[in-house]
Amino acid sequence: MAIDKNFEQFIREIPKAELHVHLEGTIEAEMMFRLAQRNQIKLRFASVSELKQAYEFNDLRDFLILYTEGTRVMRTALDFYDVAMAYLKKMHEQHVLHTEIFIDFQTYLKRNIAPDIIMEGLELAVKDAKEQWGISVLLILCFLRQLGPESALNTFQHVLRFRGQITGIGLASIENGFPPELYRQVFDLARNEGFKLVAHAGEEGPWQYVEGSVDVLKVDRIDHGNNSCQNPELALRIAKMQIPLTLCPLSNIKLKNVDKLENHSAKKMLEKGMLVTINSDDPSYFGGYINENLIAISEALDLTKQQIITLAKNSFKASFIPEERKAELIKLVDNYANGSNK
Ligand code: ADE
Ligand code: ZN
Repeated sequence: MAIDKNFEQFIREIPKAELHVHLEGTIEAEMMFRLAQRNQIKLRFASVSELKQAYEFNDLRDFLILYTEGTRVMRTALDFYDVAMAYLKKMHEQHVLHTEIFIDFQTYLKRNIAPDIIMEGLELAVKDAKEQWGISVLLILCFLRQLGPESALNTFQHVLRFRGQITGIGLASIENGFPPELYRQVFDLARNEGFKLVAHAGEEGPWQYVEGSVDVLKVDRIDHGNNSCQNPELALRIAKMQIPLTLCPLSNIKLKNVDKLENHSAKKMLEKGMLVTINSDDPSYFGGYINENLIAISEALDLTKQQIITLAKNSFKASFIPEERKAELIKLVDNYANGSNK
């Protein structure tokens, strides 16, 4: 059912945070062509519209092929700056006050692009976004799980060099066949070094991968986590522990992990008291940024205004910002909600 225009505006303008977005998934088709031209890289697509026509995926593995291919246009610090700023500008327009962005180092290390180049561009974008729009940004390095634990350990050495600029580590890419337990050592090291910990789990993989991420990797947040609902006891435990789950509804549809939005577990999770948030994952490929995700899931599941307020508050609660700023941002949501009742 289509949602009321006033409710839609309420969703668009509520103060919010995004906690699950891959920088590589924010490269819009137009940007890809612009960077390809600037860096003299030949794309296998003749035009922006031809590229966009390829945005149909059978599953996660199928998507990751195009996603990785798209990163070929990223070469210089300016490329990373431009991609990050385009995303952050969009976030400003969508009333996002804080965002935590995933970045893959291994993809670029393979091509001899040093993390120093990536961080030079991103650091400047973080600074400029704060100055221009007041948005705070944290960066999380995601290990690509199919490259194995040894590669993750080697990559972690680069993360250590950027302590202070990188807040946490995560696990992403192909999930099935690469259980969380493989990454125990690097997660233990990172925890001891004071990094925050997240992991994609239960997106395409079974509930056991969510359990392993919680119990063995001891993550602070689960990315996706949809399949935790297949084990009600685990879901209850996650609710009790208030481990946040960063849900990405349009991603689940595009990657065929959920057949239709009406069958998405977001509402059931909210009703169980799980600390869930709504995010975009790879917005340029999946047809929507955070607001489009919030509107689509509200429409499909008939979410209430109170549930939208809870989702907005959860987005700050589940973030890695200092407690003081968290409290301020949550207060902004309350003020916004109270103002809209007058
Ligand atoms: N990397 C980018 N998008 C991803 C997703 N949806 N799942 C796992 N890894 C990813
Ligand atoms: Zn993701």
